[in-house]
Amino acid sequence: MTLEKEFQGPTVAWFPAPVVLVSCAYDNVTNIITIAWTGVVCSKPPLISISIRPSRFSYELIINSGEFVINIPTSEQLKETELCGRKSGEDINKWTTCNFTAVEATKVSVPLIKECPVNIECKVVKTLTNMGTHAIFIGEVQEVHIDPLIAPKSVLDIVPLCYSPKSGIFGKSLALSEEI
Ligand SMILES: Cc1cc2nc3c(=O)[nH]c(=O)nc-3n(C[C@H](O)[C@H](O)[C@H](O)COP(=O)(O)O)c2cc1C
Repeated sequence: MTLEKEFQGPTVAWFPAPVVLVSCAYDNVTNIITIAWTGVVCSKPPLISISIRPSRFSYELIINSGEFVINIPTSEQLKETELCGRKSGEDINKWTTCNFTAVEATKVSVPLIKECPVNIECKVVKTLTNMGTHAIFIGEVQEVHIDPLIAPKSVLDIVPLCYSPKSGIFGKSLALSEEI
C-alpha cells in the first residue's frame, strides 16, 4: 500500500535551487555572497532575480551600485561556495581567502570570478524591498562569459551545485544550522 503524503504547510523548504556566487562592488569595496534564492524570471528581456536579506554586507553594495554578477560554481568549488555563504565580507576578504581572481567585466563595474566557468553580468532593473525576509533584485543580463572549454560544445556540461534547506547542498554533507 502506498503511504499518504504528509502535509508540510506553506514552506519553501523542499524547493531545489541552484547555488550561485554573486559578486558585487561599490565605492572600491568588492565582495562575494553565496545565493540560493535565484532564478530566471524572463527570457526576453533576459532577467534573473536574486533574493538577499538586508542584513547581508552585500545588500548595501548592490543597493548602491545597482549591479551584480552571477558566477556559477562547479561542484568542485563547494568549499569556496560554503565559505562565501558563511563568512561576511565585513570581516574577511573572500576573494583572497578563496584564491579567487577578480577580472574586469565589460558592461558593469563589478568584477567577475575568473575561476567560475560561467559569469553573467547584470544591471538591476527592479528592486522589491517589502516582500518579507529578503529583498528581491531583478537584474537584466548585459553580457555572459563562458569558459572556452565549454563554449565550443554549446552545452553547459558542468555539475552545478543545488540547495534546499532540508538537504543542504545536494549530494554533499553541508547542513546549514541557520536559515538562509
Ligand atoms: C548554500 C547557501 C545559500 C545561501 N543563499 C542565500 C540567499 O539566497 N540569500 C541570502 O540573503 N543569503 C543566503 N545565504 C547566506 C549568505 O550567503 C551569508 O549570510 C553570507 O555570509 C553573507 O555574506 P556578506 O555578509 O558578505 O554579504 C546562503 C548561504 C548558503 C551557504
